[in-house]
Amino acid sequence: MTQLQFEGKDLAEAVIQRMADSPDARFKQVLTSLVKHAHAFVQDVDLQPEEWMTAIEFLTACGKMCDEKRQEFILLSDTLGISMLVVALEQARGAAALKANPPKGTPTEATVLGPFFWEGAPELPLGADISDHQSGEPCYYHGQVTDTAGKPLEGAILDVWSGDGDGFYDMQKGDGNTMALRARFRTDKNGYYHYWSIKPAFYPVPDDGPVGGMLRRMGRHPNRPGHMHTVLQAGGHERLVTHIFVSDSPYIESDAVFGVRESLIAQFKSHAAGTAPDGRVMAMPFHSAHYDFHLVPSSA
Ligand code: BEZ
Ligand code: FE
Repeated sequence: MTQLQFEGKDLAEAVIQRMADSPDARFKQVLTSLVKHAHAFVQDVDLQPEEWMTAIEFLTACGKMCDEKRQEFILLSDTLGISMLVVALEQARGAAALKANPPKGTPTEATVLGPFFWEGAPELPLGADISDHQSGEPCYYHGQVTDTAGKPLEGAILDVWSGDGDGFYDMQKGDGNTMALRARFRTDKNGYYHYWSIKPAFYPVPDDGPVGGMLRRMGRHPNRPGHMHTVLQAGGHERLVTHIFVSDSPYIESDAVFGVRESLIAQFKSHAAGTAPDGRVMAMPFHSAHYDFHLVPSSA
């Protein structure tokens, strides 16, 4: 006889059984696990009806906060460490795909993209200064892009962007429509890159919405340590989304989105006014950061 009634402990299994005819095997696998874990969570915390309603109101508020400029659900995923988990799993999957023919050396680690990537930043010549009257202390960035075996990658494209010295991105300033502190650079024939920008400051992730409220209730701060976003692309190699983190930045040990990787922390050296490594004469003190990137060959 068809079962009509399900007790608490049988409900998850009943929902899973109803998916028996789903034509999409992967979808079925993901939803099966989701239902199992969600039911186990409700059981585990003995969820009260008013608590479930609070959660639904929270998710509704997250949805209402989303538009083309603000994505509260991604922020929720970021602050719960899920975005970083997905990034780490994807990089591990890429490494596993190369197992039959493992590349020498270690690839540069990936981290979160964040909400401030802006497609179409101008390509500038190596050595250009993108600080352009923005607040912040000048910083000279330099290094080499190679494959994991150390072979220099000529013509690799680095898309770089950061907040200003007060922690604000161009999208958050003025009308939000004017690009600043972002550009694309192409490595030279030996894989080298160099450019000038500023030493990025720590800043809070947007915390004026429901996720900010959640962080406060968790007793957490909303800050990310200073970092230079860098997306690298080179023919025949996997695209890499990463950051260079500022070694002496506040919050380096407690990034609100769990994006820090020890291997991505660069020493930012301080220099007195004078001649910089590229020959530029600086009338004011400046910093320099050296970082080499190592890309993995495409698996496809
Ligand atoms: C960022 O680095 O720009 C960022 C990343 C995740 C959430 C908010 C901001
Ligand atoms: Fe950022």
